[in-house]
Order: sequence, then structure tokens, then C-alpha cells
Amino acid sequence: MSDRYLKFVNTPVGRTAAQSLGLPSPVNLKRWKRADQPFIEGDVLVGAANGSKAIAAIGSLLGASPAKLFHASAVDTLNDSAKSGNKAKALPFNNDIDRKFSALVFDATGMRDTTDLRALYDFFHPTIRKLAGNGRVLVIGQDPATCRQPAKAAAHQALEGFVRSVGKEVGKKGSTANLLWMAPGAEKQLDSSMRFFLSPRSAYVSGQVARIGKSTDAPATNPVAPLTGKVALVTGASRGIGAAIAETLAREGATVIGLDIPPAMEELQKVMGAIKGKALACDITDEKAPKQIADYVKEHFGGIDLVIHNAGITRDKTLGNMPEHFWDMTIAVNLTAEELIDEELMHQELLRENGRIVCISSISGIAGNFGQTNYSTAKCGVIGYVEAMAKQVKNGVTINAIAPGFIETQMTAAMPITIREAGRRMNSLSQGGLPVDVAEAIAWYCNPASNGVNGNVVRVCGQSLIGK
Ligand code: NAI
Repeated sequence: MSDRYLKFVNTPVGRTAAQSLGLPSPVNLKRWKRADQPFIEGDVLVGAANGSKAIAAIGSLLGASPAKLFHASAVDTLNDSAKSGNKAKALPFNNDIDRKFSALVFDATGMRDTTDLRALYDFFHPTIRKLAGNGRVLVIGQDPATCRQPAKAAAHQALEGFVRSVGKEVGKKGSTANLLWMAPGAEKQLDSSMRFFLSPRSAYVSGQVARIGKSTDAPATNPVAPLTGKVALVTGASRGIGAAIAETLAREGATVIGLDIPPAMEELQKVMGAIKGKALACDITDEKAPKQIADYVKEHFGGIDLVIHNAGITRDKTLGNMPEHFWDMTIAVNLTAEELIDEELMHQELLRENGRIVCISSISGIAGNFGQTNYSTAKCGVIGYVEAMAKQVKNGVTINAIAPGFIETQMTAAMPITIREAGRRMNSLSQGGLPVDVAEAIAWYCNPASNGVNGNVVRVCGQSLIGK
């Protein structure tokens, strides 16, 4: 369903009307468009707190893009910014910064205690107003769980509050702010995550934190189609978010098995036909489903690389009015089926080395929602499942979750208009996301270079006001 208000406020008359009435004025988000599109263009400013560890890796990644690189080293607390390499030019911090930046990237990994937080102010205070529309703020800190000193842990945890507030301040320009918490020594694992969070692929992701662990070096991949040679299973692939996931993974080079219930076969075959994928008719709550899926995978491909548990349903009723089959179905589709399918694939040793499992949670699973005790229970369970499994997976396998906010699909089109409008506007970007926004985040998790990204729950919600 199209967002007519978003279209209206992006006309000259609509913009003036919204401004004079004090209504939200969401901007059109720039999304990723071309196969050869660089992850970042324009002018990019990097900075670092003294003693920072990732600045050389950041400089070399950005130096490989067509972006023009500047560093901030004229301030005492930001001396290390110059370590971003000789492709970066020094930018004097005075009142005449005469350019707009497509991204402000700050390496905070060197912070030792809370007094070092001053470096954040020194870097962002003079530059935040110079962030262009659809710009990116990206902060890299150390994972507080790996900080032994409480003062250091406090400083790095504080980055989360900082980034969440910046996201709220820059959202009205269609810009985002996110944080990467890096484990010590994981500089090489930053690559795919920085590319995602700096690019238009993360247009609807803001106020988020991703943990990057240390891992083995990723195998070299084709940058335009990094999933070449991979086989992906996408459940609920006939429409909405599932169809977008299937299309996006195919675009990245994967061969897709799309799965959906038998009544959705005609739609599923259309989606799969367009991407040369395979259509599998299966109700994932059927007792025989895990074996049916595993047998299919074995027979056609001998194994699987990417398992995307997207199929989901809502059966809303307040708890006292909820019939038991509403409860049972919602838990079965959204949660139990995922566990049983994974269990069978692993039992038959079909999930290949460096495999990826991605589950779909929801902001309802984080914040709870009126009339959705069943759905929120299931979607919160998904988070517990992912976090526990992340500690157990082996052979380079990772498992992560996406928690979508308000995404424009048939599911949300069926909402009453007042709830739908509230869902669309109650986030930093004042608009709903598109199915492709969820799909792009899944493609980031699936990238072979995301091997340090494990056990994360990242929200694709435009920084919804609901939940954490
Ligand atoms: P949708 O209703 O458009 O698509 C869900 C798909 O799952 C359908 O094709 C359906 O046939 C399939 N499915 C349902 N039960 C199944 C079963 N037993 N076996 C196999 N396939 C089955 O939903 P949408 O909006 O695309 O959502 C996709 C996922 O994202 C779901 O897990 C949903 O809970 C989640 N989500 C969606 C949000 C949104 O704003 N649209 C927000 C938060 C989470």
C-alpha cells in the first residue's frame, strides 16, 4: 500500500502545508539502486578518539570507495584521526566548514573511561549540522561486554545512548545514526557491516547497535554478487517481505528455494519464476515439514547455505478473548517451526560451513503490543532462540535476527487506518519501511564477510518510538 501522505509532503504545496501546520515532513529515502553503485559517495569525514584501534581499517575501507575523505585532527582529543591514511585530507574545525558530508564516521574504540566521551562532542558538535540529507552517522566502539574496567565499559555503553539520540535529531532529514560494537582485534570483520550501515541499503535502519566479533578472515567474494554459489531457503516467500528477501538474495547471486503454503503456490511460482528459483509447497507447521524440507534440499542441492525464517502470521485478540487455536497457531508458525526446521537440517548435516540462519522477530516482540500477547510471545521467543543458538553454532555458521517495525505489506495494509498512520509516523524517519529494507539487512547478515556478526537482533524500524 502506498503512503500518500509521504508523496504529498514531497510536493512544493504539501511541504509548505505540512510545515505551516507543524505536521511531520518525511523525506523520500534514497535506497540502493544499481549493481555497480558504490556503498558511499560524496564527502566523508572521519574522526577518532585518541588511542583508537580501528581508524586505519576505516580509512582503508573508505579509501577504496569514490568518497572524498577528510579527517579531523586539529583538536587535541582527535589526534588519531590522521591515522585514517594519506587519502584523507585534514579538515580544520572552524566556523567555515564549507561542505556537506554524506557520512560522519567516528572511531571511539580508543576511549578508556568516561572523560574520553568528550571526543564525541569535539567531533560531532561542529559537524552534525553539516550532515547532508539521507546522510549517515556511524560510530565504532568496543563491545562493553569485553571491557574489564567498569569506567571503560560505561564509556562504550554510553555510545548507545548517544547514537540513539543523534538518530532522533537527524531523522527528519532522512539520515540515520548507528553503532558498531567491535570485539578487540575484530578490525578486519568491520568491512561488510560498515559497507551496509554507510550505504543506501540501510535507509530504514537507525538507532541500532550491531556487535562484531573476531572471526577468521572471510573468503574473497564477488563484490557485486557476494552470494554466488550459495543456496538459500526463504519461508513465506510468495509475497511481502519474503518475496523481497528472495529477490534480494537472488540479486546477490544466491539460488533461492521459496517456500509457502499450498494455496499460495500460484503467487510463489511467479516470484520464483522471475528469479529462476524453486518453489516448494509446504505448511511449516505440518508435523512432516522439517523432514520434507530437508529431503528437498538434499535431493536438489545436497545442502543449504542460507536459511531465512520469514513466514509469520498474526492472530490478534486481547488475551481474555483469544481462542486457543489463535495462540497455538501463532506460536507454531512464528517460533516452533523455525526450531524444528533448523534441528532437522543440522541433524542431517545439511547446513553447510559458513552457513547463515536469519530469523524474523518484530518490535512487538521487544515492546509488547495490545491484542498481540500470542505474537509478541512468539517474536520475543525468536530473540531468545537466536541468542542461545549463537553460542552453539559451529563451522563458521552464524544466526541473527531482524526485528522489523512498520513495513508496508499486506499485513500492515489490513490494519485500521488510525493504527496504520500511527505506525507509519511514530519513528525518527516519520514513514513506514519497505520490504526491501528488511531484505537488504538480511543480505548483510548473509554476506560471507559478515562472519563476525553473530547473535544480533537489529531492528529495521526507522527507529520506532516503540520499544528499546
Ligand atoms: P505476509 O502476511 O505478507 O507474508 C507472510 C507469508 O508467510 C505469507 O506468504 C504466508 O502465506 C506465509 N505463511 C504463513 N503461514 C505459513 C505456514 N504455516 N507455512 C508456510 N508459509 C506460511 O507478512 P509480511 O508482512 O511479509 O511479514 C513477513 C515476516 O515479517 C513475518 O514473520 C512477520 O511476522 C514479520 N513482521 C512483519 C512486519 C510488517 O510490518 N509487515 C513487522 C514485524 C514483523
